[in-house]
Amino acid sequence: ARLERAFTAVRHFSADAAHELRTPLTILKGEIEVTLRSPAAEEEYRRVLASCLEEVDRLSALVEDLLFLARSEGGAVSLPQMPVNLADVLAEVAQALQALADTADITCTVASSPTLWVQGNASLLFRLIFNLGENALKYTPVGGTVTVALSQRGREATLEVKDTGPGIAPEEQARIFDRFYRGDPARGRGGTGLGLALARSIVLVHSGRITVESVVGQGSCFRVVLPLVPSS
Ligand SMILES: Nc1ncnc2c1ncn2[C@@H]1O[C@H](COP(=O)(O)OP(=O)(O)O)[C@@H](O)[C@H]1O
Ligand SMILES: [Mg+2]
Repeated sequence: ARLERAFTAVRHFSADAAHELRTPLTILKGEIEVTLRSPAAEEEYRRVLASCLEEVDRLSALVEDLLFLARSEGGAVSLPQMPVNLADVLAEVAQALQALADTADITCTVASSPTLWVQGNASLLFRLIFNLGENALKYTPVGGTVTVALSQRGREATLEVKDTGPGIAPEEQARIFDRFYRGDPARGRGGTGLGLALARSIVLVHSGRITVESVVGQGSCFRVVLPLVPSS
């Protein structure tokens, strides 16, 4: 039954992936065909090429995310697990987020944290924190605030990513971790709908849990809890 479930999961995954890849490919093909139909001014060619490049960028991001998801879902066992200091990972993510926050005109505060050792994979953990921070910055309007904090609670590390954005309705909260799910307000913005699916599978690989608390119109708080390496 376990194998059966695994096959079904793979089938669904491939179907979802193919569906998501088909749309940008159809757009690309259409644009190129229309442009080739009759001669046009150089300016027009430039415009079309720029738009095609955007579409190709979207495709590349999507393929990257899919590969990453496939690897973290399928390769959980083969992942090298090492003691990782979450505070170091957070400091690295902070740099990347600060750059995004500056361009978006959002105040981003990442509290520095004491050393917290978890068993896991540093690049996956980077991706986890980055995805949550990226969402917070992406969905929070100009002038808003994003706060990231890490703390120890008993034998667990708690990471909180808080924003003053639009919030997420209760009925949506159950779906945002699904592959390819995107909320309505998100559709105008770049994204693949894979960020939180990735975050969730990374958390699971690390034997942790991820939850969201959110009030529409006030903001959201994503919380990740990870077991600490037992101190000897
Ligand atoms: N911080 C947030 N504030 C409001 N909505 C969010 C936030 N994070 C995620 N969401 C919602 O969850 C959906 C899924 O997020 P994600 O998997 O990262 O995909 P993407 O960001 O590519 O749309 C988003 O489309 C958005 O509707
Ligand atoms: Mg996202």
